[in-house]
Amino acid sequence: MAPSSFSFCYSAVVLLCLCTVASAQLSPTFYNTSCPNVLSTIQTGIQAALQADSRMGASLLRMHFHDCFVQGCDGSVLLDDTANFTGEKTAFPNNNSLRGFEVIDALKSSVEALCPGVVSCADILAVAARDSVVTLGGPTWTVPLGRRDSTTANISLANTNLPAPTLNLSGLITSFANQGLTAAEMVALSGGHTIGLARCVSYRDHIYNDSNINANYSASLRAICPFSSGDDVLAPLDVATNATFDNRYYTNLLSNQGLLHSDQELFNGGSTDAQVTSYTTNSTAFFADFTSAMIKMSSIGVLTGTSGQIRTNCRRVN
Ligand code: HEM
Ligand SMILES: *[C@@H]1O[C@H](CO)[C@@H](O)[C@H](O)[C@H]1NC(C)=O
Ligand SMILES: *[C@@H]1O[C@H](CO)[C@@H](O)[C@H](O)[C@H]1NC(C)=O
Ligand SMILES: *[C@@H]1O[C@H](CO)[C@@H](O)[C@H](O)[C@H]1NC(C)=O
Ligand SMILES: *[C@@H]1O[C@H](CO)[C@@H](O)[C@H](O)[C@H]1NC(C)=O
Ligand SMILES: *[C@@H]1O[C@H](CO)[C@@H](O)[C@H](O)[C@H]1NC(C)=O
Ligand SMILES: *[C@@H]1O[C@H](CO)[C@@H](O)[C@H](O)[C@H]1NC(C)=O
Ligand SMILES: *[C@@H]1O[C@H](CO)[C@@H](O)[C@H](O)[C@H]1NC(C)=O
Ligand SMILES: *[C@@H]1O[C@H](CO)[C@@H](O)[C@H](O)[C@H]1NC(C)=O
Ligand SMILES: *[C@@H]1O[C@H](CO)[C@@H](O)[C@H](O)[C@H]1NC(C)=O
Repeated sequence: MAPSSFSFCYSAVVLLCLCTVASAQLSPTFYNTSCPNVLSTIQTGIQAALQADSRMGASLLRMHFHDCFVQGCDGSVLLDDTANFTGEKTAFPNNNSLRGFEVIDALKSSVEALCPGVVSCADILAVAARDSVVTLGGPTWTVPLGRRDSTTANISLANTNLPAPTLNLSGLITSFANQGLTAAEMVALSGGHTIGLARCVSYRDHIYNDSNINANYSASLRAICPFSSGDDVLAPLDVATNATFDNRYYTNLLSNQGLLHSDQELFNGGSTDAQVTSYTTNSTAFFADFTSAMIKMSSIGVLTGTSGQIRTNCRRVN
């Protein structure tokens, strides 16, 4: 091989590698020319949805989390079951629990009307989660974009990867480590429980079986969540301010008022106590850590470039 042709091949290989790397990255300006009004359209839709139902902000934040922990942030959580396809919606952590699919459908319709076939469902969900946090008084951040939608879903991965409220601290740390997230990022992301509600079935073991819970708090919860009935009775994850995205979730933990067993594990004499305590006195630190951890979580396992597709309907593969 002549030196010049070697050099040509070498350059081509280098270029190819650069292109591959570049296409694997998300960018905040991904839709700048292809769909310049996409962000304001989603923001308007989220503000309307939360005005009708403030809990929807919590539900959409959680839906994005449940998308990302199962084969990456690829919209897999949005796929409906069909006669020959099983999606993630009936996985144990999602069944009768995840909500907000109609809000994503409505956002998708608005965005399709604006720029058909351009914006992925996975990106809509990531932006919806951010706009929800902002609308409920939390911090803002720039969402890197360019995710594409999966053509598959995985119910067994949803059952395996999504952390259960019965986990102890080491189980929580392992669950997040499996997604490339640190223990500190796990603690910051758990601050998502400053908004929204949980069902009795999720907090029953904590209020009846755990001793690290404030007695008045457990008594008030036992009054609404019986030992052997009422699985669907809802209680706020943040007993103080469940409709505001703030640092009160952590303050509650200091007085043993975490709703889930897993919540109280973050402040139970272990390695994460100091971080929890620091967030109670410095909400700026919580907001900064939460936003950087959200950006990291929302880039887990993304499909980019020509992988996957841009679904027309978020509920089914094209
Ligand atoms: C650390 C491990 C986590 C565990 C064990 C966990 C577990 C749970 C459980 C059991 C519920 C109640 C579901 C129900 O009863 O229907 C819930 C709700 C919720 N989770 Fe988590 N979660 C975790 C992390 C996160 C993260 C990282 C976020 C987001 C950043 C998040 C956001 C939410 C929100 C906002 C709700 C309320 C949803 C609503 O009201 O519709 N969670 N979580
Ligand atoms: C993309 O649009 C945003 C918002 O309009 C603007 O601030 C930014 O400079 C644009 N970036 C590029 C690369 O066009
Ligand atoms: C089953 O899957 C095939 C191929 O993916 C699809 O064409 C067909 O419509 C599906 N049938 C039903 C009943 O969903
Ligand atoms: C999901 O919930 C429905 C309604 O409660 C129930 O009938 C169904 O068995 C559940 N599915 C799974 C897979 O647990
Ligand atoms: C789901 O994920 C598991 C673990 O990665 C894998 O073994 C399995 O084949 C996947 N199932 C489907 C339906 O993709
Ligand atoms: C945490 O839970 C796991 C699995 O249930 C168990 O093996 C481990 O001993 C527990 N760790 C602590 C510190 O309790
Ligand atoms: C807050 O809690 C109340 C009462 O439990 C509930 O009606 C409301 O939907 C909750 N809001 C949010 C954003 O969680
Ligand atoms: C509480 O613990 C007992 C004994 O370990 C167990 O049988 C029971 O199912 C637990 N109850 C709840 C609500 O978790
Ligand atoms: C429970 O409430 C009573 C009356 O408000 C108060 O005196 C007591 O200190 C509270 N107990 C705990 C453990 O917070
Ligand atoms: C609060 O946290 C921020 C961000 O980590 C830090 O810059 C600041 O110094 C902290 N403030 C106090 C009073 O500790």
